[in-house]
Amino acid sequence: MLLQKWAHDSAAWEALVDGDQEQVIGRRKSDSVELDDKPSDSHLASTDQDTLGKIFRRNMPFGTVTDHGTMFVGFCARQEPLQKMLESMAGLDDGSRDALTRYTRAVTGAYYFVPSTDSLRALVSPEE
Ligand code: HEM
Repeated sequence: MLLQKWAHDSAAWEALVDGDQEQVIGRRKSDSVELDDKPSDSHLASTDQDTLGKIFRRNMPFGTVTDHGTMFVGFCARQEPLQKMLESMAGLDDGSRDALTRYTRAVTGAYYFVPSTDSLRALVSPEE
């Protein structure tokens, strides 16, 4: 599991018109449909699951009016897709960083191992 705290520059984000926000994310805002001609530095292009591998996300917003952002929670049975996505977002693959990182920045981050329920059950002895 990859857990990262991201602090948003909401003023900069809100200053963008909808069309520019859509270019940053790579999806249409009104109906969430993926843009056919999304920029290569859009968030969707930077985290393309068809090329980098599938992950499961459970993001949570946090904070106050003045200091806030997203707790990114990403699960994957293998670490590699998450790592590749981070490298792609940083521009290590093609030199262009994810446009989203112009409006938010990671302030903490760590990988955690989440054992399966089957393996946890196997640790419990029948007497307990
Ligand atoms: C502040 C941090 C982040 C924000 C606000 C954010 C926001 C978003 C948004 C709005 C979407 C499009 C809607 C959707 O498809 O659900 C999206 C898609 C996605 N994000 Fe993020 N994201 C963040 C960080 C990350 C990170 C760190 C990763 C991976 C390490 C990641 C991986 C993905 C993936 C895999 C998708 C789906 C791409 C696809 O359609 O295949 N995101 N994110």
